Amino acid sequence: MKIGFAGAGAIGCHYGSKLQQAGFDVLLLARGKHLSALQRNGLRHESDGETQIIPINTCADITHLKPCQIIIISCKMTGLTAMLSALQGIIQPDTMLVSLQNGVEAPDRIAAAFAHNSVVAGTAFIGARLERPGHVIHSAAGGIRLGLWQQGSSDHLLALLIEAFQHANVAARIDADPAAMLWRKLLWNCGFNAITAITRRHARDMAAHADTLITVQQAMQETVRLAQTRGINIGATDISKHIEITLAMGPVKTSMWQDIEAGRPTEVDYINGYVATQTTHAQSTAPVNQTLTSLIHAIEARHDS
Ligand SMILES: NC(=O)c1ccc[n+]([C@@H]2O[C@H](COP(=O)([O-])OP(=O)(O)OC[C@H]3O[C@@H](n4cnc5c(N)ncnc54)[C@H](OP(=O)(O)O)[C@@H]3O)[C@@H](O)[C@H]2O)c1
Repeated sequence: MKIGFAGAGAIGCHYGSKLQQAGFDVLLLARGKHLSALQRNGLRHESDGETQIIPINTCADITHLKPCQIIIISCKMTGLTAMLSALQGIIQPDTMLVSLQNGVEAPDRIAAAFAHNSVVAGTAFIGARLERPGHVIHSAAGGIRLGLWQQGSSDHLLALLIEAFQHANVAARIDADPAAMLWRKLLWNCGFNAITAITRRHARDMAAHADTLITVQQAMQETVRLAQTRGINIGATDISKHIEITLAMGPVKTSMWQDIEAGRPTEVDYINGYVATQTTHAQSTAPVNQTLTSLIHAIEARHDS
């Protein structure tokens, strides 16, 4: 079974290298200085205070992903449209496609682009970042949940992928309600991702201070309201669970905070921005998510000027 990763950043390199080390045939699509560093020196992978140099199979040409039975789409939401058009003509009728993006939109967009393929929605519970070209730091957790999103001729590969991850020491399991799975992760991201990027303070601090906790809870309540209008099975208990878990977390730097620090575009439009826009389309308002989105846009614009 050949597994391709369309995008070899933090997520692609972390999971790709684990699968490759466990003996699976893996190929990562990479580009630029990161590709050169991976080809020249191998992947420098740091995890739990241990550093490994892992020779990893990479390609610059997307057509090399054609023989993969499974393609894990591991770019950010900001690169998804371009990645899906680049994959046209590469995807075979029996290729299974897997999304790992944050937000709730990726599986539908992949399913729309490849209407006859098996599509799996995934959620990664991990802290990992691309520190510099060729160098990935894994800082927290690492489990994956996967659920079948669109039926196709290769649905059976889902169980094989779960087994492959487990064999590679990645805690992976099937989620029978992938829509709720995606929205539950969106819920945490709406509560904590933007506010930590704006304040440059850890999520646990935002949960511990009464003032910021109110903002976190309001952003999450707006997200639950939108989810429930769509029949998604999440609710107030999910909010309290997220807050309880966050209070016990280590000093994890969220992805939006990292993106802002690095001057990269964030995924805010697919997180708080998504909730704000979709709520407006439903003739209502989500003022806290709207405000968080505007503040992140303002910080992003500062990088542009
Ligand atoms: N990192 C985490 O801890 C984490 C946790 C949970 C979920 N996620 C989600 O997982 C997704 C990926 O995150 P990430 O942290 O791995 O992002 P990342 O480090 O930015 O990796 C994405 C990689 O894909 C590459 N890429 C994008 N379009 C490409 C194309 N057309 N051809 C070749 N390469 C392409 C990017 O290259 P360039 O840099 O050249 O654009 C980058 O190396 C995001 O949606 C994120 O929200 C991440």
